[in-house]
Amino acid sequence: MSATLDAYMTSRGALVDAELKVLLRGRSEEPKAIVAAMSYSIFAGGKRLRPVLVMAAAECCGLNPRKAVKTACALEMIHTYSLIHDDLPAMDDDDLRRGKPTNHKVFGEAMAILAGDGLLTYAFEAAAVNAAKLKLSGRATAELMKVIARGAGVQGMVGGQVADLEAEGWKKKNHGFNPKKALEYIHLHKTAALITASLEAGAILAGAAPDRLRRLRAYGKAIGLAFQIADDVLDVIGDKKKLGKRGSDAQNDKLTYARLYGIADSRAMAAALIAEGRCALKPFGAKARPLHDLANYIITREK
Ligand code: IPE
Ligand code: IPE
Ligand code: MG
Ligand code: MG
Ligand code: MG
Repeated sequence: MSATLDAYMTSRGALVDAELKVLLRGRSEEPKAIVAAMSYSIFAGGKRLRPVLVMAAAECCGLNPRKAVKTACALEMIHTYSLIHDDLPAMDDDDLRRGKPTNHKVFGEAMAILAGDGLLTYAFEAAAVNAAKLKLSGRATAELMKVIARGAGVQGMVGGQVADLEAEGWKKKNHGFNPKKALEYIHLHKTAALITASLEAGAILAGAAPDRLRRLRAYGKAIGLAFQIADDVLDVIGDKKKLGKRGSDAQNDKLTYARLYGIADSRAMAAALIAEGRCALKPFGAKARPLHDLANYIITREK
């Protein structure tokens, strides 16, 4: 990671962490167990890519990034919920995440499911509170909530996770199954959709014009797909210690870029997507520097 991006992610990440601490401080009427389970995964050491993207998009559309922090936290809460559920025995059945035992290993399956539910719903409360605080119009607020719900839901991440599960054991599927098509669908939905929603959310908060929104959407789709391709590659060749997760794709017979196309071709495809994504940023000029740097980082990262 370049020194500039490192400094950028550290400063934005600190804003996110401080706000998450406030959001998850736990009110007296809340059961302590659920607050503990939610906080455990939220503060386990994620990269904070999605919240940083919310702020970077807001910033490059002219909004002070501090005004986007609560919305950024909403996207991180949705992402963290998705990881808690993704690791459950009924899904990928993983026991290590962000370098720590997975949520269900510590708190049990029932509490892990509820911690995910709690984070997902709290995210919408936080996003709504921030929209009100910024005095966003009713129309913009509705659009914002719709974009986040879509990115997280059946048309986005949840739909992708379903397709991901259905494609397990793909080698034995009948000839009507098109693995290349299925794989692109999975990755665009389970991962690129929430990344795109993060960028759109930042842009909506900033009151961005339709063309700018369109361009950030195109950037998000391309870098989001590249992000999951890189994740697939790291599952095979990454340093598990750095990754903080063990990698269970082969064990679960997952349909992934690394397994379908091999490492070299996957890397080439991811690099082409990053170039495509960066191209969409042209009209933003120098203001999009962090988004360019983040794009490059996505395919060179080791964790
Ligand atoms: C992991 O996301 C899940 C995927 C969508 C590939 P990250 O690699 O962003 O995980 P954290 O947030 O840094 O733990
Ligand atoms: C998960 O993809 C994407 C999510 C929506 C959580 P993976 O199952 O490949 O993510 P990791 O490798 O467990 O982080
Ligand atoms: Mg999974
Ligand atoms: Mg997984
Ligand atoms: Mg993975």
